[in-house]
Parts: sequence; structure tokens; C-alpha cells
Amino acid sequence: MIKLTNVYKVFFPNTSNEVLALNNINLDLNPGDFITIIGSNGAGKSTFLKVLAGIELPDAGKVELAGKDVTAYPEYLRAKDIGRIDQDPLASTASEMTIEENLAMAYKRGQVRGLRWAITSNKEKLFKEVLAEVGLGLENRLRVPVRTLSGGQRQALALVIATLAEPKLLLLDEHTAALDPKTAKQIMDLTGKIVSSKKLTTLMIPHNMEQAIKFGNRLMMMHRGQLILDLGHEEKSMLTVPQLVERFSTASGTAFDDDRVLLAT
Ligand SMILES: Nc1ncnc2c1ncn2[C@@H]1O[C@H](COP(=O)(O)OP(=O)(O)OP(=O)(O)O)[C@@H](O)[C@H]1O
Ligand SMILES: [Mg+2]
Repeated sequence: MIKLTNVYKVFFPNTSNEVLALNNINLDLNPGDFITIIGSNGAGKSTFLKVLAGIELPDAGKVELAGKDVTAYPEYLRAKDIGRIDQDPLASTASEMTIEENLAMAYKRGQVRGLRWAITSNKEKLFKEVLAEVGLGLENRLRVPVRTLSGGQRQALALVIATLAEPKLLLLDEHTAALDPKTAKQIMDLTGKIVSSKKLTTLMIPHNMEQAIKFGNRLMMMHRGQLILDLGHEEKSMLTVPQLVERFSTASGTAFDDDRVLLAT
């Protein structure tokens, strides 16, 4: 369904600053896979997600989405099939627009794809329903500008927007990293709930090791642009954080050197 074959990405090629950010990535995602990806700073995790989203185009290799070769497709041509959230709560929603207007844009995208609920005449009722499921009281604030929401509320709204039209692929790049621990946990629980109820194929860069173990059915490790480990559900769910760190050291030949991820709660 989603497949990467021999994908390479080089930044600053042929200069002294050359970085091989993706070094021969091969991946075959099963529909409904929820993969967490960990790796040290600069391992290439964000670049990997950006290549899937079309924000960065690979220098070599092939990217397939729903059986279609999208390697050369820029971001806007893939956007209808991909939901994406990164760590910045300001990035995924339109600040000056109201919650309702933000949802209406996502709704329109869904309509183009002919979703069943798109024929519902009462949009307001639908928006209230989906927001009520989030449990943050946003359903009573449809007409407030998004800029007045807290970071956690914005990330929750971003999740609703990114998943309203049931994308073929959901990409989450440390989407709870900018939130306080309690709100981060709420947003992670919401993420798990939405992904499993909609059975979304998801790649998530978690913001700590515990999230990497707790969420998803597959865990991958990246190191220097390569995927060095791919653990299945059973193996992963039995791991403790120290064991995971140990697996990383064995597979990469170096210590895990991102204290932010190691120490984050
Ligand atoms: N747009 C860019 N231009 C130049 N170099 C880049 C660009 N984006 C990423 N890089 C480089 O590519 C490498 C991989 O970066 P990437 O952001 O994918 O790592 P990461 O695993 O997400 O790291 P982190 O855990 O710090 O978020 C790094 O050396 C980075 O400096
Ligand atoms: Mg990153």
C-alpha cells in the first residue's frame, strides 16, 4: 500500500557540508500499520516523513502511495491523501480563522473525496460531534479564532482536521513535544483512540521512548539515515525503556545520544 524502495536524500550535495539524510530506505507498510520511529538527533526521522509527505523529494528511489508512484509528486498533489502534524501547534491550523472555518476546509477536502458524511446537511452538528469526542469542550467554541486556543487544544484540533477525511497516511512528527506532560499525555491518548477507531496507517516520531513502546504495532529505529531495526508488536510490547536503549546501542554500535527523548516524560 505504502512503499519506499531504495530511497536516498542528500542535503548540500558535493560540498563539505554534504549530509546523507536518507541512505537507502526500504519500507513496506501494511494497511493499518501504526509505526513509531526512534533515533538520535539528526538520524533522518523528520526527513523520512517529509519525503513521504512530498515536502522533500528524494534524490533517488521510489515512493508509492496506494499503489501509485508518487515519487515526483509535490506536497500539494499528495495532501488529500496525507494528514500531517508536527510539533508546532501554530503550524497545522489557520490561526485567524475560527474552529468552524478550519473544520469546513477539512470537510471540503473530504467532500471532494466523496465521503459518506459529506452529504450531511447539518455541518455544525457534525463538527460538534467530532469535537465532543475529543473531550476538551471545543464543541462549544466553534466560532472562536483558533489563535485563542491553548497549544494542546490546537494540537487536538489539528488531529481532528488531519483525520476528518480519513487520510491514507497519517504522519506525526513529535506532535506532543511542545506541550506540558499532562497535555501531551491527553493528546497521545486521543491520537491512539483516533488511529485505532479509524484504522489509520500511521507513522509517528514519538517524543519519548515510552510512547514508542506504548503506541503502535511496529517500532523502527533510524541511525545515520538508515532503518536499522524493525520490531513487531509482540517483541516491542514486552520491552522496557532501558532494554530499548540497549537494543539501539547494539544495532547502531553507538550509544543513544538524545537526552531530550531519553529524559522526556
Ligand atoms: N532542509 C535541510 N537542509 C539541509 N540539511 C537538512 C535539512 N533538513 C535536514 N537536514 C539535515 O539532515 C539530517 C537529518 O535531519 P532530520 O531533521 O531528518 O533528523 P531527525 O532524526 O528528525 O532529528 P531530530 O531528532 O533532531 O528531530 C541532519 O543532519 C539535518 O541537519
Ligand atoms: Mg526531527
